[in-house]
Amino acid sequence: MGSEKTKQLNHLAIIMDGNGRWAQARNLPRSEGHRAGADNVLEIVKSCRKFNIKYLTLYAFSTENWKRPAAEVNALMLLLGEFIDKKLKFMQQENIRFNAIGRLSGLPESAGKKLLYAMEQTRNNSGNVLTLALNYGGRPEIADAARKIAMAVKNGTLDVESIDEAAFGRFLYDPELPDPDLVIRTSGELRLSNFLLWQMAYSELYVTDVLWPDFKEKELQSALQAFAGRDRRFGGVNKA
Ligand code: IPE
Ligand code: IPE
Ligand code: MG
Repeated sequence: MGSEKTKQLNHLAIIMDGNGRWAQARNLPRSEGHRAGADNVLEIVKSCRKFNIKYLTLYAFSTENWKRPAAEVNALMLLLGEFIDKKLKFMQQENIRFNAIGRLSGLPESAGKKLLYAMEQTRNNSGNVLTLALNYGGRPEIADAARKIAMAVKNGTLDVESIDEAAFGRFLYDPELPDPDLVIRTSGELRLSNFLLWQMAYSELYVTDVLWPDFKEKELQSALQAFAGRDRRFGGVNKA
């Protein structure tokens, strides 16, 4: 089936899992798996452009990933900085807006600075939106939103009676980010691992055993085909 026939998908989110297993299978250090994983990001960004998917959100580092050995965390943060250094020019050329969600102030200074610079430089780009979830957790995001809401009520800028789902959504890390239509997890684990808990209420889920560094356009196409065959009811009943 050609891409033109696949159901339109506005926001794709991916839990990029399996870098460690990819490295282990090759007797390489885990950091080499992360490097291969980082190298795969642009390939999927390009495929999303080809398939007309405007928003791509990638889970790159969770609030729980700090539990890993310091050397692995450092390698991941260095890769993030490197990715920005190397790909910013491409983002500019292709009119891609570079975006991030998470507790960004908790990132190491160097990576955090590069990230904010790239976001600032691409903020007026009107094409695709690439969002990296960094130092991100779904529960921390909801807790952070609750705190901001409480502050707004305390300051008198928000009326308690006006707090509904839409109002709550405006206090998330990126209120402009639409809910994902499809969430892909690579490497076979059947769990959400604290990703986009609020936004995923009605997302379609797709899990593949393929490890993230091996997840190429062909695998993405399989996921899009599966999505195209889904019956999204949102709690209602579809007409026959
Ligand atoms: C995903 O790969 C990347 C991050 C979580 C940063 P993993 O490092 O979790 O790979 P596995 O799950 O150990 O194979
Ligand atoms: C989820 O993967 C986080 C990212 C992909 C960044 P993990 O490998 O950290 O998740 P668990 O530990 O298997 O749940
Ligand atoms: Mg993992």
